[in-house]
Amino acid sequence: MHIDIITCLPELLESPFGHSILQRAQAKGLVEVVVHNLRDYSSSKQRSVDDYAYGGGAGMVLQIEPIARCIEHLQEQRTYDEIIYMTPDGARLEQGMANALSLKKNLIILCGHYKGVDERVREKYITKEISIGDYVLSGGELAAAVLADSIIRLLPGVLNDETSALSDSFQDNLLAPPVYSRPADFQGMKVPDVLLSGHAGKIEEWRHQKALERTAHRRPDLLKGSEGENEK
Ligand code: ADE
Repeated sequence: MHIDIITCLPELLESPFGHSILQRAQAKGLVEVVVHNLRDYSSSKQRSVDDYAYGGGAGMVLQIEPIARCIEHLQEQRTYDEIIYMTPDGARLEQGMANALSLKKNLIILCGHYKGVDERVREKYITKEISIGDYVLSGGELAAAVLADSIIRLLPGVLNDETSALSDSFQDNLLAPPVYSRPADFQGMKVPDVLLSGHAGKIEEWRHQKALERTAHRRPDLLKGSEGENEK
């Protein structure tokens, strides 16, 4: 998979992709993440990429021209399955969306800033608009990192134990069951006996039961809409 991220603050994305699972996924050649500085596509001496909003009002708007130049430059090199804009008014990111995007080959993720991007960018180039939740961040960079992480960890070979992404919360519309590690007894708090039993069938049954209980208690909405809701 190849992911191009367009931002006017590339520094904000250095850390998320420079460590741990995301860094190893790139080192293993399972995904290529390239961050593009929008300022490199500015035509002004000051490398500016934003301007006042027509009609007035507070806040600057990311201009269409640098974004158009950047996207069209990238499109000369590959065909994109989706050109995604991170925005609080987009469709809310859910596991099903991450699953579907993990099957794509080439993605562009555009990070908004200030008051957002010129509406014509959305009309002309964007194929999908995604929000990571009902709150407003200072820019789309952290949201882009969240989206990319949710996708990349699903790619075959990225996680050591390939089954572990399948047992994540939200796969099958269930929250994950509780997990324990050593010691078996911490100040009288004991690990459930079944997990020490070595009986794979009983352990699996216990985990499924706990996942159901936890979901019913914390997120009953997931159980209600479960059938066929996974792949949006
Ligand atoms: N940019 C600012 N806030 C955001 C959000 N909640 N989701 C995606 N992009 C954003």
